[in-house]
Amino acid sequence: MKPLNIAIFGSSGAIGKALCVEYANKENIENVFAFSRKGDTLNQKNINSHTVDYLDEESLKRTSLSINCKLDIVIVAIGQLDNPEKSIKELSAKKFIDMFKANTIPTALIAKYFLPLLYRDRTTKFASLSARVGSIEDNHLGGWYSYRASKSALNMILKGLSIEQKRLNPKSIVFGLHPGTVDSKLSKPFQKNGKEYFSPEFSAKKLVNVIDKKTTDDDGKIFAWDNAIIPY
Ligand SMILES: NC(=O)c1ccc[n+]([C@@H]2O[C@H](COP(=O)([O-])OP(=O)(O)OC[C@H]3O[C@@H](n4cnc5c(N)ncnc54)[C@H](OP(=O)(O)O)[C@@H]3O)[C@@H](O)[C@H]2O)c1
Repeated sequence: MKPLNIAIFGSSGAIGKALCVEYANKENIENVFAFSRKGDTLNQKNINSHTVDYLDEESLKRTSLSINCKLDIVIVAIGQLDNPEKSIKELSAKKFIDMFKANTIPTALIAKYFLPLLYRDRTTKFASLSARVGSIEDNHLGGWYSYRASKSALNMILKGLSIEQKRLNPKSIVFGLHPGTVDSKLSKPFQKNGKEYFSPEFSAKKLVNVIDKKTTDDDGKIFAWDNAIIPY
């Protein structure tokens, strides 16, 4: 098998960084292209770090043109959970828009500029980190309106991309991932004493395992860290 080229967005985040390192240490990896807003460098010879503004199309276009090879895998590990609403009374238009800017729009714009870099004639994977709470069917607690909605919308984007990509490459697989509850900047404000959290490294190992297992039957679906399917 030819060595793989992988692009990971959100490499400054806990899970994004752990995914970069996990892939860089795997066999048969040619390059890990690591993207973040500040261009943080990761000291490993096969990790190439780049700065990009996920909401600026010129920046995304420029960065996509600077990658001089075809890609096998694209992973988006960008997201934010800020002061989630317990009640609809706490919702504001600003918060709602901010959650979509962090959790939904980056994946759609990254897809616009980076799906064309994926091979057309071999198995390719495009995954984005969603969240279990984005599942409409699994919502038993309510609340967290803007974060939940931004992840449900992300799931819809992924479903649409899976259909469009399939027309270009029958071996394309697009899917969402739930990383488990992971110790990170994002989860810190919600962590409870006595509850156990995954380390980013553990979650990344599990996610890479899930990504490895995906076949065309899994196209357009959402999977948890243990490969269990999450309903829409
Ligand atoms: N941690 C969990 O328990 C958990 C559970 C379910 C789902 N997830 C999902 O997993 C993904 C990664 O989360 P994490 O735990 O690794 O969080 P994290 O350590 O806080 O990393 C978040 C990443 O997203 C970027 N980011 C944050 N706000 C942004 C914004 N407004 N616009 C653009 N980029 C932004 C950050 O970039 P900067 O460094 O530039 O700020 C960073 O690269 C997210 O999509 C999250 O929703 C996490």
